[in-house]
Amino acid sequence: MRVGLLGFGTVGSHFYELVRGRQDVQVKTVLSRRPRTGVDARVTANVQDILQDPEIGIVVEVMGGLHPAYEYVCAAMRAGKHVVTANKLLMCDKYGELVSLAASCGVCLRCTAAVGGGIPWLTSLAGAAQVDTLTAVEGILNGTTNYILSAMTRRGIGFSEALQEAQALGYAEADPAADVDGLDARRKLSLSADMAFGVILREEEVPCLGIGHITQGDIAAARDRGQVYKLVASAARREGRVSAYVCPALFAASTPEANLEGTGNLITLYGERLGRQSFLGAGAGGWPTGANVLRDCLAVNGGCESFYASAMVPQAVDNTAAEGKWLFRVNGAYTTKRESVAEAFSDYARCLKEDPCAFMAQMR
Ligand SMILES: NC(=O)c1ccc[n+]([C@@H]2O[C@H](COP(=O)([O-])OP(=O)(O)OC[C@H]3O[C@@H](n4cnc5c(N)ncnc54)[C@H](OP(=O)(O)O)[C@@H]3O)[C@@H](O)[C@H]2O)c1
Repeated sequence: MRVGLLGFGTVGSHFYELVRGRQDVQVKTVLSRRPRTGVDARVTANVQDILQDPEIGIVVEVMGGLHPAYEYVCAAMRAGKHVVTANKLLMCDKYGELVSLAASCGVCLRCTAAVGGGIPWLTSLAGAAQVDTLTAVEGILNGTTNYILSAMTRRGIGFSEALQEAQALGYAEADPAADVDGLDARRKLSLSADMAFGVILREEEVPCLGIGHITQGDIAAARDRGQVYKLVASAARREGRVSAYVCPALFAASTPEANLEGTGNLITLYGERLGRQSFLGAGAGGWPTGANVLRDCLAVNGGCESFYASAMVPQAVDNTAAEGKWLFRVNGAYTTKRESVAEAFSDYARCLKEDPCAFMAQMR
């Protein structure tokens, strides 16, 4: 199958190297805004050279961002081309529309690298959903915040220093808000929950608390109790309701979550009969992510379904019945409380009025 590659950055260039010399998947044309040296494929700045080329069967979109990725992906599907993308922003924002378009155009849409980077999480999740009723998905879905929390925990450095370190190493963006505030994890959670439960969640309905308020004092106090902080995204389905939220969580030091180092991801599904299945690996990086993009191309070559999930019922997020035990820090004092997710987030909003530095975490 001939590929038109949109984007030649971290993921695109590694995907290109991975397919170099292969017979089953070959990059014919690369879309690039500037000249590229060392690229045997045709390089063009005009996307029509890809969209109108009948030899190109798959368009791989690894540009990122919503526009023009959305327009290019839609045009590719309308031109009868399969689409493989790593773009979680695009998939989360346009989920229902893109999945429906793929089906109506009779093409495949794959986005395995959009969640978990190099972990074949979405394909495993879709496979599990075909054989069992899934009850929950959750995990450490953002490598940058895991790096920051690991550095604070293991080496005792402060949040700002850990963030600067992550930026210097290229893990965090110059504007790290999407990672630090939990928005990236929320996006990946929404996509995972959509596929696991056959629903469409509105991302903005998922309450989200990042790691910006965790202090070195919080981390040290947790260490003294044999606990470790991680940023966790959770969604569950029970009696027709879907709960979903993103929040720092405390894990016992002996758990796999507590021991996840660096930029790794650890993602778990729960099925009524399957029980717990966890997936651990590189949540980002050119080689692992590029490899997941290639696996999607091979799935297309193998004649995969139009999309991973067929059901897409719009569903409101309902956190009123999902319970948890919560730790609050307000004006330097810790308290714990057992209550629903909805109550915990509204309690936390009240705490912030009293103490703008207040902090909340779920106790696992
Ligand atoms: N990096 C990872 O580890 C990772 C992991 C999982 C998912 N992803 C997803 O993969 C996608 C790509 O990420 P990345 O890290 O590879 O990004 P990146 O390094 O910033 O590369 C993006 C590439 O797309 C090109 N591009 C952007 N807009 C374009 C346009 N309008 N026309 C033509 N080319 C355009 C850029 O060109 P210029 O060079 O000219 O700017 C660049 O080559 C994103 O959706 C990201 O969320 C990345």
